[in-house]
Amino acid sequence: MNDDELKGMRRILFVCLGNICRSPAAEGIMRDIVDASDAEGFTIDSAGTGRYHIGQLPDHRMRVHARRRGIELEHRCRQVSTSDFNDFDIIIGMDANNIADLHAIAPSPDDERKIVAMSDFFNKSTRFDHVPDPYYEGAEGFELVLDLLQEGCQNLFDAVTRK
Ligand code: 4NP
Repeated sequence: MNDDELKGMRRILFVCLGNICRSPAAEGIMRDIVDASDAEGFTIDSAGTGRYHIGQLPDHRMRVHARRRGIELEHRCRQVSTSDFNDFDIIIGMDANNIADLHAIAPSPDDERKIVAMSDFFNKSTRFDHVPDPYYEGAEGFELVLDLLQEGCQNLFDAVTRK
């Protein structure tokens, strides 16, 4: 999606594999950015391509690391579905597997155009082309995810609210 297409897109869905680490963190960070602004009309949610953790709160480690940055994560895990392509303007995958899985369930080519990579919103100087899965990592993995998501969500917010 180019800069013109991104303008005004306010129904945003973040997607990862488990929907307990990266995408609920992205959802919480984006909500925090929106709440701190005077922007209106946003719908922000997250979902997973997998179904391992449906109904659960985010991973305890991610909740602790996010809380240290003033962000409470209270999303309940759900699986992404084809109806999400109706309900959201942009569907943001955290890594190449998430993006491939989203393309596989998109109902139409137009819907596939809604799928974008979180890394598209990283600063140009970034070393990262995806948000690394922290599930089997230590504390640094969770901190890295939060750093990348805070940078990416701010750039995403700037892109969709640009006049
Ligand atoms: P997420 O991390 O995709 O960032 O939520 C994961 C969480 C759980 C699993 C994999 C990744 N899992 O295999 O249970």
